Amino acid sequence: MSTGTREIPLARPLLDEREEELVLEVLRSGRLSLGPTIERFEELIAERIGAPFAAAVSSGTAGLHLLARIAGLGPGDEAITSPLSFVSSANCFMFEGAAPVFVDVDRRTLNIDPDALEAAITERTKAVIAVDMFGFPCELDEIRAICERRGLVLIEDAAEALGAEYKGRPVGSHGVSGVFGFYPNKQLATGEGGIVFTHSEEEWHLLKSLRNQGRDYRGGSWFHHVRLGFNYRWTDVQAAIGIGQLEKLDEILELRSAAAARYDELLAGIDGVETPLADDGEHTRSWFVYVVLLEHGVDRARVAAELGDQGIECGEYLPCIHLQPYMRERFGFAEGLCPVAEDASRRTLALPFFPQLERDDQERVASALASAISS
Ligand SMILES: Cc1ncc(COP(=O)(O)O)c(C=O)c1O
Repeated sequence: MSTGTREIPLARPLLDEREEELVLEVLRSGRLSLGPTIERFEELIAERIGAPFAAAVSSGTAGLHLLARIAGLGPGDEAITSPLSFVSSANCFMFEGAAPVFVDVDRRTLNIDPDALEAAITERTKAVIAVDMFGFPCELDEIRAICERRGLVLIEDAAEALGAEYKGRPVGSHGVSGVFGFYPNKQLATGEGGIVFTHSEEEWHLLKSLRNQGRDYRGGSWFHHVRLGFNYRWTDVQAAIGIGQLEKLDEILELRSAAAARYDELLAGIDGVETPLADDGEHTRSWFVYVVLLEHGVDRARVAAELGDQGIECGEYLPCIHLQPYMRERFGFAEGLCPVAEDASRRTLALPFFPQLERDDQERVASALASAISS
């Protein structure tokens, strides 16, 4: 129940007249799918992230699935990913019949620990899905070296990390194939959608065929299908929103960083709250969510409920994948498999976070959090 103060949502996209104008142009053009606006968006985002090829798809999940399909994953194979991620990081290869192997995360970065990854490789392992969790880049070079040495396919789940940089270059530009997502809470929001970035022209052609029911990527007859494909097409209406969002991406990223810096400052003196890991010389986070870790012993559900009572939306972001009911049932996973990830996931709390978030609302969040923790 709200006390009557203004509600502060968890997330909200930054959209304005520019997106309206671009959407209207597409509506008036009558080209709602497979049109030029998608191609324009693909060119613009590829240039922005420093990847030679980009293929837009209906969601981040769809993009990951296509990469798992192209990797040739199937029954009898294992793929390794992080337990502290969204379910798509594992579902993408389970759709193809491969089994998930979860390895623990690094306590500081909350991303996959390369040593744990190497130790989990078996003769069945075929791929690794490395996640840039909460927009913080994973240890891509170390992970890639392991994958090259052990003959594994590497896919980067960068759904949360558009705008992040690893070793001074954008995520997406490092030669590995991966995905960004455009759900409304993401840095670039189009409602639904995702982009697969790749450094292989051949893979790009395959992606364009697979997303479009297996049609020849060069076009041709509508009812000519050269392979088994999916309908993972995006629409030109979404691409129009995407172009508007790309035009203001720098502004969005700056506003998000500024909001994160204000939270860092406001929460610094509050006992029981650990703020997110700061950037270092090699990792520059793209601020997707602002997730704090509550100290052991703090009752997270009660804190979240108290904030909720004051109109402040927050999220238990997010449970470990291996402990989801369908994973437990199918593979018998239980607590204790990935202790670091499990401990973090029990203590994470996502605070309201979006580009337009203002300081006075952040002050409200900080003082509500402090009083909820101390009470
Ligand atoms: C790490 C991660 N991977 C994959 C996805 C899936 O993206 P989508 O919701 O666009 O399918 C998400 C979305 O929240 C995500 O956070």
